[in-house]
Amino acid sequence: MEGARVGSEERRIVLITGASRGIGAEAARILGQRGDHVVVNYREKRKRAETIAAEIAAAGGSASVAGADITDAAAAAGLVDTVVGEFGRLDILVLNASGGLEQGAAADYAMAVNRDAQTRLVRLALPRMAPGARIVFVTSHQAHFSATRPVPGGYEPIARSKRAGEDALRDMVGEFDRRGIGFVVVSGDMIDGTIIVRLLERRDPDAVATRREHGALPTVEEFAMAIADATARPAESGHTIYVGGADFHGSIATCPTGSASFPNSSSPA
Ligand SMILES: NC(=O)c1ccc[n+]([C@@H]2O[C@H](COP(=O)([O-])OP(=O)(O)OC[C@H]3O[C@@H](n4cnc5c(N)ncnc54)[C@H](OP(=O)(O)O)[C@@H]3O)[C@@H](O)[C@H]2O)c1
Repeated sequence: MEGARVGSEERRIVLITGASRGIGAEAARILGQRGDHVVVNYREKRKRAETIAAEIAAAGGSASVAGADITDAAAAAGLVDTVVGEFGRLDILVLNASGGLEQGAAADYAMAVNRDAQTRLVRLALPRMAPGARIVFVTSHQAHFSATRPVPGGYEPIARSKRAGEDALRDMVGEFDRRGIGFVVVSGDMIDGTIIVRLLERRDPDAVATRREHGALPTVEEFAMAIADATARPAESGHTIYVGGADFHGSIATCPTGSASFPNSSSPA
């Protein structure tokens, strides 16, 4: 792992998967500003990750980078070992990295990254996390509500696998509780200006246009702020925080997610 050493006694140690760009990078910036030491995980875009860490440091925060493809079991184990070896603990694990829309991705890749890699990383991290630590899982409304709402064309494997990942993690809530580890899900509507929405706009323009008709899409900053808040705000294990997409919220009664809140949206439909 590379980056500034940290006065780790005072700062929470936060690992954000897939923080080299987009929402993960913005969440890293916010948590860095709030005084955490942020470990910026990336898969291959090392320079981008280093730039994010440097920006955090330049703003007076503390950050380091740690490359690991979380679908690679050895790399995932190495990632957890590296963080705990370097800083002595892991206080917050933000499961942000996601995939499956990449061109040429194998048919089983979405499930490998969005379910299997998430649960494996959690199993690796759990024994290294002390009571009071927390896991935050990041998902989309299009995945979270996929059982009851239409899914944009081309996004089905991602929706299915992200929902499967969420369900597999929810199945572990008993163990999280026994260990005193918090677990919070943050679900967002399509987020304006992201690569994923640009890809969806090409594959299913109507689906994106329909979302826009319901009102402005949340911004990266709004979603990242909700993720950052989810690392600290009091919440029951399994709590879900929704960002944007008020029209989805009417589906909550039929969606097995436990409690819910609506941080940046008007009241539920
Ligand atoms: N974009 C949206 O509209 C939207 C809406 C709701 C929820 N979300 C959720 O928000 C999260 C972030 O989305 P985003 O749009 O910011 O994604 P993104 O721009 O596609 O960024 C993905 C990040 O994950 C990393 N990554 C991908 N595969 C990885 C792997 N196997 N191992 C480690 N890192 C990996 C990438 O690293 P490299 O650059 O190094 O490859 C990159 O940092 C996802 O969970 C997504 O489902 C997104």
